[in-house]
Amino acid sequence: MRGVTALFLGLGVGTASSSRLGTPHYREFFYTSGEYVSEASDFISRGQVYVEHLVPAFNQTSEPEPIIFIHGGGQTGTNWLNKPDGNPGWASYFLGKGYEVYLIDQAFRARSPWTPLNSSDTLKAYGARYAASRYTAPEKFNFWPQAQLHTRWPGNGTKGDSIFDTYYKTTSPNAYLPDPATQQLAVQAGLAELLDRIGRPVTVVGHSQGGIMTWLAADARPKLVKRLVALEPSGPPFIDQVFSQGAARKYGLTDAPLTYDPPMQANVSVESQFQLVTTGSMDPSIGNCTLQDPQGPRQLTNLKDIPTLVLQTQASYHAVYDWCTVEFLRQAGVSVDYLNLTNVGIYGNAHLFFLEENSDQIAGVVRDWIEK
Ligand SMILES: *[C@@H]1O[C@H](CO)[C@@H](O)[C@H](O)[C@H]1NC(C)=O
Ligand SMILES: *[C@@H]1O[C@H](CO)[C@@H](O)[C@H](O)[C@H]1NC(C)=O
Ligand SMILES: *[C@@H]1O[C@H](CO)[C@@H](O)[C@H](O)[C@H]1NC(C)=O
Ligand SMILES: *[C@@H]1O[C@H](CO)[C@@H](O)[C@H](O)[C@H]1NC(C)=O
Ligand SMILES: *[C@@H]1O[C@H](CO)[C@@H](O)[C@H](O)[C@H]1NC(C)=O
Ligand SMILES: *[C@@H]1O[C@H](CO)[C@@H](O)[C@H](O)[C@H]1NC(C)=O
Repeated sequence: MRGVTALFLGLGVGTASSSRLGTPHYREFFYTSGEYVSEASDFISRGQVYVEHLVPAFNQTSEPEPIIFIHGGGQTGTNWLNKPDGNPGWASYFLGKGYEVYLIDQAFRARSPWTPLNSSDTLKAYGARYAASRYTAPEKFNFWPQAQLHTRWPGNGTKGDSIFDTYYKTTSPNAYLPDPATQQLAVQAGLAELLDRIGRPVTVVGHSQGGIMTWLAADARPKLVKRLVALEPSGPPFIDQVFSQGAARKYGLTDAPLTYDPPMQANVSVESQFQLVTTGSMDPSIGNCTLQDPQGPRQLTNLKDIPTLVLQTQASYHAVYDWCTVEFLRQAGVSVDYLNLTNVGIYGNAHLFFLEENSDQIAGVVRDWIEK
């Protein structure tokens, strides 16, 4: 343990795992990346990434690799702390198993401040109805067929329910940037600096939009990423499904550049360089899937040697298409384990499964994969 600010919660070992205050730990915070830009006659810092580093007070002897957790769109690093129902979350779970954890707030969000330069720089919050329909109560809206299988959110998952309200107040407006790549490049820079600072290989876990950031972190620092865990990562490749059929993620998994072999040419549009094949589906529970032409697909050279887990729940909109993201990764040479939770007997979860009633059970499945 190196240079960690001491904040000890003072709980006995015996009470730790059952306490609503979670696992005893030490804490420090710091910022990575960010750059000064001029504003009026002064300078402001933009793009810095808030990092919270938690070190278990006990059980450090097994020295497993640290874990970096990256939250998704409209969320913050509080996703991994205690849950809206008051119980300990995934940070406590992994601290209790001896892991050091790093929780970030994505650039331009929450404690990673958004510093607008002009009046066209705006913020957009997810509404409560949006959050309920996609995350906490999809079974009341049925925007995709699997939604009706959702049972695991504590409380009724809508505005007025105290657990929902507690969750909803943790969400943070997304900066409305001209291109999603701007956000992704800022978070990638922050994660690259964090990986350099940690200086030994780690596990990178990303949820949803944070899944995009896992690919970019590994692409920037492949030697410092031991393994990747993509929890319902943003997808599927190239063309949105479920809520839109629009073009997205022009590098397949990301909007910001990824390193491919053969390399992408800088002077030609990215879109024109991929040979794509779409498999259509008329079944709304199985999305259309756009992959590279199987004749000589470009390879993700920096991701190829990093063991990767893609995890998908039963009732999320990701059940419609995460299988396609896995196909894309495999075509590009990445070694992926695909975990459809129904295949290990875990039912009824949706996209915010790490906040749902069986969150520790799912954390256990992820830990088994990390330690296998
Ligand atoms: C440390 O590990 C032991 C054995 O796994 C466990 O019983 C104990 O609860 C752990 N301590 C904490 C603080 O989590
Ligand atoms: C406002 O700032 C953004 C950077 O956040 C920049 O991309 C945009 O060009 C600026 N717009 C104007 C009108 O200056
Ligand atoms: C959810 O619970 C709250 C609080 O009891 C209540 O006000 C609200 O009407 C409920 N909503 C639904 C859709 O059941
Ligand atoms: C793009 O650049 C390459 C070399 O960097 C060059 O051979 C090629 O002609 C250029 N293509 C276009 C369309 O400009
Ligand atoms: C596949 O794409 C077509 C054309 O955009 C669309 O009409 C259809 O609904 C899509 N299929 C699914 C399952 O979303
Ligand atoms: C996940 O597994 C269940 C049970 O085997 C199956 O019904 C479902 O189609 C699977 N989903 C995907 C996307 O593979």
